[in-house]
Amino acid sequence: MLRILINKKIIESNNLNKLFEQYKIINIDLGTGNGKLVYDLALKNPDTFFIGIDPTASNLFEYSKKIQKHKIKNIIYVISSIENINDDLNNLADKVYINFPWGSLLEGIVKDMPEILNKISSLGKSDAEFNFTFAYSSLHEPAEIQKRQLPILSSDYLLSDLKDIYLKANLEIETCVDLTPTEINVFGTLWSKKLFLGKSRDIFRIISKKI
Ligand SMILES: C[S@@+](CC[C@H](N)C(=O)[O-])C[C@H]1O[C@@H](n2cnc3c(N)ncnc32)[C@H](O)[C@@H]1O
Repeated sequence: MLRILINKKIIESNNLNKLFEQYKIINIDLGTGNGKLVYDLALKNPDTFFIGIDPTASNLFEYSKKIQKHKIKNIIYVISSIENINDDLNNLADKVYINFPWGSLLEGIVKDMPEILNKISSLGKSDAEFNFTFAYSSLHEPAEIQKRQLPILSSDYLLSDLKDIYLKANLEIETCVDLTPTEINVFGTLWSKKLFLGKSRDIFRIISKKI
């Protein structure tokens, strides 16, 4: 059963296919926060179906109400952590985004945690694009690095050790770039502003493909 947020209420459903069977392209935003990014993308791309996933339903109330009010058909919010994600979402997405993750979601994309990375990888069709944007540093998040034993981020780590870790989950890292503040601005999400604007720091984006 999938838990879908509709107008501030969580509805259990096992018949998702009906919602998006007419859409050729499906994109998933994992750890979607307040859901604004996929809401904006759904308005701009009516031919694509968007699924925002997050464990915290209350943060999604504002945009779930807007979806109902404006009768937007090409988006849903699923309430779940990646750890408890339902198999119904397997092999569905053409693109999977993760933006500014924290907690176990962040750990799962930067460390060797096959139980999480395999679940993330499962969301995509073969050839799907996985687009992860994240940052942490010993200057800004020393406690989190220590608590979760996060590796020190560098292009070397991302393109060697992490590349091998991703391959075990059938994800091939294609590019790894350091984003500029202007590129971060484009997100326009709460967390892109809260975490990064006005701070000088490395923000990494990894683009990988499911093989
Ligand atoms: C800093 S917020 C970023 C939200 C949004 N992506 C944005 O850019 O505004 C991190 C999000 O990751 C979600 N998250 C943390 N652990 C998660 C997990 N294990 N599975 C799914 N989402 C998770 C949190 O609930 C939170 O909404």
